[in-house]
Amino acid sequence: MTITLSGVSKVFGDFTAVHPLDLTIPEGSFFALLGASGCGKTTTLRMIAGLEEPTGGGILLGDEDITALPPHKRPVNTVFQNYALFPHLDVEENVAFGLRRRGVTSVGKQVEEMLELVELGPLAKRKPRQLSGGQQQRVALARALINRPQVLLLDEPLGALDLKLRRQMQLELKRIQTEVGITFVHVTHDQEEAMTMADTVAVMNAGRVEQLGAPDELYERPRSTFVANFLGTSNLIEAEIAETKGEELLLKAVGSGTPLRLPVERCAVENPQAGVKVLVGVRPEKISLSHAEDGGEDSGGSGSGSGSGSGSAPGPGSDNRLTGRIRDAGYLGVSLQYVVDSPVCPEFSVYEQNVERDARLTPGAEVVMHWRPAHTFALDAAQDADAGTVEEAL
Ligand SMILES: Nc1ncnc2c1ncn2[C@@H]1O[C@H](COP(=O)(O)OP(=O)(O)OP(=O)(O)O)[C@@H](O)[C@H]1O
Ligand SMILES: [Mg+2]
Repeated sequence: MTITLSGVSKVFGDFTAVHPLDLTIPEGSFFALLGASGCGKTTTLRMIAGLEEPTGGGILLGDEDITALPPHKRPVNTVFQNYALFPHLDVEENVAFGLRRRGVTSVGKQVEEMLELVELGPLAKRKPRQLSGGQQQRVALARALINRPQVLLLDEPLGALDLKLRRQMQLELKRIQTEVGITFVHVTHDQEEAMTMADTVAVMNAGRVEQLGAPDELYERPRSTFVANFLGTSNLIEAEIAETKGEELLLKAVGSGTPLRLPVERCAVENPQAGVKVLVGVRPEKISLSHAEDGGEDSGGSGSGSGSGSGSAPGPGSDNRLTGRIRDAGYLGVSLQYVVDSPVCPEFSVYEQNVERDARLTPGAEVVMHWRPAHTFALDAAQDADAGTVEEAL
């Protein structure tokens, strides 16, 4: 069933935990609410479950207004982070609990099916304390799913697991959701988790949804600095629009005047005209790094680069280009990560695949960084450039 939140808000005393929120969660989707601690994820989930009364607005399930419906009358089940299994009941009886409570007497077949779904058949007679964290998590899931809810709400269900088990359970949860086909609303503060599992991610910040979309769309085309920094890493350069040229924007970096370009449609500024200040963004893995002596070939397209980089305007189709000096180089096995200080932006992050290492790319080396205009985005400069960064959160 499609869940529709219209202007749903929650105020605790004089603190607004959730600002009026409009959200449509399509039937059968895996929907993630992603955001830092305290941004209002659990509160939103609890309002959908009926455990928290909205201060304003309404909630529809399909066409039915469920805003005033008590929790047990909603076709919704919740799985919490701490599982809350019954310690004295074995796995089978934990899973059967919901059916027994409703007076169902022959539970055997359904319980068996559920245990099969979560691959716990052989452990049916164990008590929760005899299970690993991931196994307990699967019991909690089976216990919720056996009630055949139309919507399953999951509040940080993998929060107690170590990283490896977490990754494994993410795939498992995704498989189960695909198999049962019901709507999952998953709350997490882990961006990788949201991106791996969800069809649609709503990025929340301070009680508001900043941006909503498919994981790749959010990553490739963030529309705010918060999303650009909270989902992965972004390099942001202060720049000013110089001119609009057909489908392209030509910009100049503030201070150095280094020319930069990007497709107009990748600019999240309402009215992109000459003189408007923007933050030009590029993801670290989109950047190619060359030693300054080599100039730097374009990373793709047919255009010819200007060689040394700064100064003259790049030709159509050519890469954006910045010069800089390596401050730090890290070897991560799968990739090489560099921090480059450039006159237009200190501490540029660059990730290179570990294929052909240029031994000259060590701290102190003069380099050229270049990337395609199509991998560039631009954001409104009237925002905090550091919003959503780890440093800000600490
Ligand atoms: N019953 C309450 N009374 C007062 N304030 C509350 C209450 N419940 C939540 N809050 C506040 O509302 C804000 C949002 O809380 P919520 O639990 O929704 O955050 P969250 O996004 O789930 O965070 P976390 O990732 O830490 O679980 C927080 O600042 C919290 O302190
Ligand atoms: Mg929470």
